Amino acid sequence: MIRCDGLVKIYKSSDLEVVALQGLDLQVADGELMAIIGSSGSGKSTLLNMLGGLDRPSAGKLFVDGKDMLTMSDRALIRYKRDTVGFVWQNNARNLIPYLTAQENVELPILLKGRRKKTRALELLDAVGLQHRRHNRLSELSGGEQQRVAIAIALANEPKLLLADEPTGSLDSKTANQVLDLFRRLNQEFGLTIVIVTHDPQLARKVDRVVAIRDGRTSSEMIRSANAEENAASDKQEESAAESHVEYAVIDKAGRLQIPAAYLDNEAFKDHTRVRVDWEDGRIVLTPPETVKAER
Ligand SMILES: Nc1ncnc2c1ncn2[C@@H]1O[C@H](COP(=O)(O)OP(=O)(O)OP(=O)(O)O)[C@@H](O)[C@H]1O
Ligand SMILES: [Mg+2]
Repeated sequence: MIRCDGLVKIYKSSDLEVVALQGLDLQVADGELMAIIGSSGSGKSTLLNMLGGLDRPSAGKLFVDGKDMLTMSDRALIRYKRDTVGFVWQNNARNLIPYLTAQENVELPILLKGRRKKTRALELLDAVGLQHRRHNRLSELSGGEQQRVAIAIALANEPKLLLADEPTGSLDSKTANQVLDLFRRLNQEFGLTIVIVTHDPQLARKVDRVVAIRDGRTSSEMIRSANAEENAASDKQEESAAESHVEYAVIDKAGRLQIPAAYLDNEAFKDHTRVRVDWEDGRIVLTPPETVKAER
């Protein structure tokens, strides 16, 4: 569904350049449910905007659903946004119109696309478990219910790819869990590919793969371990992301690898800008230069 190679995004203002993405590599398979984590300013929303066709990359390669997002014409980009992707934001104000009812909110995008709006709106509200609240105004719904209306709207154009930027950011953990369960169900039942940007480590536990972005680059990937899958099946709840997932560092095309900051803070590696790289019995071993000297 998604292939990024060395993706670069530079924001230019009159006298300032911000490199928001600096050579990001990422692949997402068709039908995958995955999360992107990273600290504030690491480039998560920038990436989502590129994936959603809301903004153009500056350089590198980006293919979504087989379409080249760098060379696509403006008209094709509009069509792509209309037919291929759905968006869910953290802030409901960006998703919804407050003075309309749940059903009217969902009918709106369908109206714009000219379909049998009422039945379709009810189908969508049903898919997110909100049929019974359809006549309530947005102000009468809880945060989680409002977010589910937003998800119904994002599904109105039957997208192949659902992009969610901090969708549970303003929800308590119980409501956040309901929204997440909905994502899982949409993924399993309809094969929808879903990319969720989040700060929430709880959320990371619930998806198969978590990609960490650091300074506009993919630095590591956490893959759900087979062990954890069994635990999830047997409904064992309170496990941390560390127990349920195995963390991998990402090696890019040029063979570059980002070493976790915590390891580099260790006394042995602190203040060194080079390491010795050796091959030992199927392992690649990094040794700080001091030790190398001492051995000789
Ligand atoms: N439209 C813009 N113009 C200029 N700089 C921008 C623009 N949008 C983002 N940036 C900068 O690009 C970098 C990445 O921003 P981005 O919004 O992608 O971060 P983020 O990972 O989503 O952070 P957060 O977790 O706080 O939402 C930041 O340094 C930000 O200031
Ligand atoms: Mg953001």
